[in-house]
Amino acid sequence: MAFPEKFITELTERSDIVDVVSSYVRLTKRSGSNQFGLCPFHSEKTPSFSVSADKQIYHCFGCGKGGGVISFIMDVENLSFPEAVEFLAKRAGMQMPEEEHSGESKKKAKLLALNKDAARFFYEQLGTPAGSAAVEYMIRRGISPPVAKRFGLGFAPDSWDLLRSAMRQKGYSDFDMFDAGLVKRGKNGGFYDAFRKRLMFPIIDVRGNVIGFSGRILGDGEPKYLNSPETLVFNKSRNLFALNLAKKSKSGYIILSEGNIDVVALHQAGFDSAVASLGTSLTPEQARLISRYTDQVIIAYDNDGAGIKASQRAIGILEKLDIKVKVLRLSGAKDPDEFIKLKGPEAFRKLLEGSEHQLDYRLKNIADKYDLSLDEQKLDFLREASDLAARIPDAVKRQVYSMRIASMSGVKEEVISADVERRHKKLMNAAKRTEQRQEVQPERLIQPAARQLHYDDPESAAAEEGLIRLLYLEHELVKKPGLPDKEDFSSTALANIYSALRAGLEKGEHVTVDTMAASLEKDEISLLVSILQKPEILKRSEQSLRDYIDKIKDKKALRSGKPDLNALQKQLQKTKGYGR
Ligand code: UTP
Ligand code: MN
Repeated sequence: MAFPEKFITELTERSDIVDVVSSYVRLTKRSGSNQFGLCPFHSEKTPSFSVSADKQIYHCFGCGKGGGVISFIMDVENLSFPEAVEFLAKRAGMQMPEEEHSGESKKKAKLLALNKDAARFFYEQLGTPAGSAAVEYMIRRGISPPVAKRFGLGFAPDSWDLLRSAMRQKGYSDFDMFDAGLVKRGKNGGFYDAFRKRLMFPIIDVRGNVIGFSGRILGDGEPKYLNSPETLVFNKSRNLFALNLAKKSKSGYIILSEGNIDVVALHQAGFDSAVASLGTSLTPEQARLISRYTDQVIIAYDNDGAGIKASQRAIGILEKLDIKVKVLRLSGAKDPDEFIKLKGPEAFRKLLEGSEHQLDYRLKNIADKYDLSLDEQKLDFLREASDLAARIPDAVKRQVYSMRIASMSGVKEEVISADVERRHKKLMNAAKRTEQRQEVQPERLIQPAARQLHYDDPESAAAEEGLIRLLYLEHELVKKPGLPDKEDFSSTALANIYSALRAGLEKGEHVTVDTMAASLEKDEISLLVSILQKPEILKRSEQSLRDYIDKIKDKKALRSGKPDLNALQKQLQKTKGYGR
């Protein structure tokens, strides 16, 4: 391991997994010393992600991911092992052992520093004579100076290298600037400023880093916005504009809009929980990010065809994460910015309070698709609408929506209601059947969650798992004679875990899931954690150890086609009922 074992041990002692996980996952349920929340790594509606304060590990019973605090940060922040260590060290206020900064994280830090300096440069340009064009534009769009400052807005001057030379003076190279997307490369190999004569919106992540920029043309023209390209520090689909501000809002919900200007206008009008997805439609990663901060989203997309389509897509993505979704209908305006300009913040607040529940919204959208005066189309409407209502778990609510569908279609309420209930039962039965199917396949239960780790010899694998679990729980057992070799294992993943564990124990190290994360693949760590979840009786640990070893060796002999006589004899005794 590149890091001293003592360092990792101290780091994990100072990074309580419950604390760390809590800033990403709302832990809502408790059972014994385990706490549960919605898994940040897959979509689910009921919490199956557990964190154990005792064992300092997490494990998702749904998707099978698991690990210690370091693995958690690797997964959730998308970092390598050394980066995750660095991340946690910063959090715990620990000094990194010198030469351990990874090359990549050094580069990231440099790009972030450069972006911050560039943002400051753009901001300062507002005070120059050339910057007055941007100031005037902001006045025209009604953006007040304090709000501009809160967002760190700035101006990229109409020049090919003002930014470039300012940043060079600060010691950044052209290549740094190129990697940050701040300069482009010309045909002759020279570099020039990428953003020119634009109102600059810095994109700031939830940790306060300037990760990229979005530059709007002053007035009309194409392209309206220029955005930073994907860089080492900027990934559009994983970030949201203004989430750094919105996450501090006390409102209890997040307003999701399309445009940067809309977000600025909303904040200025007092709606401080507005964010925008960066010119893309909402991605699952962005939704997951939102779910760390709230369980309620109000969609305020543009009032046009594209906006309605995007809303529907967003509803689907957000609902998967059990986020309550409402949709605003901005009548008489094309977007939130215009709505507030035309009708004022109070009108917008009213809209928010009365914003339609997503079911009403969907129902209306379904109705809009059909001409209900035509029988044929009315039937299509009824089929689709009843199917929607049938999916509501709550019986009273189903009834309410049946009534609504009845009044929309003019069909008797009893008829609709019976149809909805019939569909509901059918859905429930189908769900039950899937569940049962899973239960009657015991072989599947022992298989690892990650498909590529499939056990070819489940019986041997069970013993291999047992051996790993025992050694992990009782370090002393590593000194017992007769332990199998890595080659005796039937599963490569288990063999890897076993040899990492044994190597650590034989060196007398303090072995944990976290120290092992340095030398194992992610899905091996998840597998290790799921093995540790299974019960093990430690009372007769030496006997269990022997049993596991025998089983592994027997199985190995069988696989290699030359069963050793000892093993054969034992098996024979067992089957005939006289052994033991
Ligand atoms: P809009 O065209 O609605 O922009 O695009 P806007 O921010 O609301 O600006 P105004 O009010 O028309 O002046 C919505 C978002 O889509 C992305 C930007 O993030 C923008 O805020 N976009 C738009 C681009 O990335 N590139 C473009 O050329 C246009
Ligand atoms: Mn817009």
